[in-house]
Parts: sequence; structure tokens; C-alpha cells
Amino acid sequence: MAKPILVANWKNHPSSIYEAKEILRGLTRKKLLFKKLFTFIAPPTLYIEAVANGSKSFATLASQDIPTTPKGTYTGEISIDMLKSFGTRLAIVGHSERRALGEMSEVVSKKVLIALKSGISPLICVGEKERDADGEYFEFLRDEIKLALQNVGKSAIASVLIAYEPVWAIGKSAKEALPPQELAQSVLFIRKVLTDLYGRALADKVSILYGGSVEPENAGLLMRESGVRGFLVGHASLKPKSFEQIALSMITK
Ligand code: PGA
Repeated sequence: MAKPILVANWKNHPSSIYEAKEILRGLTRKKLLFKKLFTFIAPPTLYIEAVANGSKSFATLASQDIPTTPKGTYTGEISIDMLKSFGTRLAIVGHSERRALGEMSEVVSKKVLIALKSGISPLICVGEKERDADGEYFEFLRDEIKLALQNVGKSAIASVLIAYEPVWAIGKSAKEALPPQELAQSVLFIRKVLTDLYGRALADKVSILYGGSVEPENAGLLMRESGVRGFLVGHASLKPKSFEQIALSMITK
């Protein structure tokens, strides 16, 4: 069995580089634990060098987004080559907080392609805004997945990861997160959509992660009972102790 995947999404936190280094020091104390998983940290771009240096003994650098400007001169932009030069191997694409800022599915699918072409694995975020009793949100999920993958052929799909993040479950507490049985249903559904698109063997190569209020209290159960291969963790990834407990519960049977 491959190692579980744990991705820290720091979003636009912490507010200073001093605090960022403090978090890194806390995580480094448990580096042997984090090395038992595929651990990634997606920091704010300004902290990328500090995080690349401070986490290289136990984690790989991830990006929270993919720049779309082609080669050229663009004030205020960063380039994909810069991300790569720091060792970025994974990029969150289509996070609901970016979609809420106006990012459309065409842009998401473009970013997926740019990431793949640059040798960075896209972690595509999908998830419904709300749930309805008739299960119509499954249709929404199917469309989001299909649109994001519209340019991805069979030869590239194994490099893609999907993060299922129901928007209503993000930034809450473990009590309000998705129960494992419901997560298991969504994971099966996503696997089915991928199978319809790429066939069973290739679909099985796509790691499906869960994100949305993963905390020490619910991580173990979600990992054991839902079929996910890992987590995309927001607020709990900024607290070394919580992140460590999540990591531990992912490898404890
Ligand atoms: P959360 O965020 O863990 O704070 O819910 C997850 C995410 O938005 O990726």
C-alpha cells in the first residue's frame, strides 16, 4: 500500500515569517513521523523559500495555485519556473476559495494542463456548495470533475490527484465535518466518474483526498472508513500539535 498523502494548505496564514518559522520548528520535531507519509506543505508564496528550507527533511513543497501567464513580462506575477526552482511538486488547483473569487472552470482546466506540462501534479479541488436531499449534488460533482479534466488524456491522468472538499464543510470543526459513511459514498462516486472517463485501471491510479475540517478528532475514522488516500488540511495544519496528531492517526490501524 502506498504511503498516505497529507497536504497542509496554509492559505494566507500565518501573518508573519516569524510565526511561519515557528510552525516549521514545531513540525521538524516530528520529522520521522511526517516521513512515514507523503507530506506536502503549500505555504503563501512569500514564505516559499523559508518553507522549502525549513521542511526539506520531512516534506515536499506544494503550491496553492498555478500561475497562468505565458512566458513574458508581467508586473506582479510569479512564474511556474520559480515554483519549480524551489522544488514544488504538487499544486492545489481550483480551490473553492479561488472559485469564489471568480475562477471559472475553464481557468481551472487550463491550470491543470499547465501543471501537468511542467511536471507538477495538480491536486484538483471539487465539492458541492450545499447538499440536497435528492442527491443532485452528485451531478454537480460529476460536472466539476469532467470540466477540470477536459484536457487531460489517458497518458497524464495518473499524475492527477483529486481533493473532495464540500464547500460547506470547510473551516468548521470536526463535529461539523462530513461523516465517514457519507464521505465513502462520495469517494465511490468520484471513482465511478473517473472510471467512466478513463477505465478502471487508470481511475484507480488517481489518489482521492478529503478536505474540510479535518482535525485530530476525526482524521483516524475518516481515513479508515472512507477509502480516501489522504487529506488536504487547512486550519489544523497551522498548529504543529494538531497536524502531528492527524499524521499519526493516518498511519495507526
Ligand atoms: P479547513 O480547510 O481544514 O480549514 O477546513 C481545508 C481547505 O480549505 O483546504
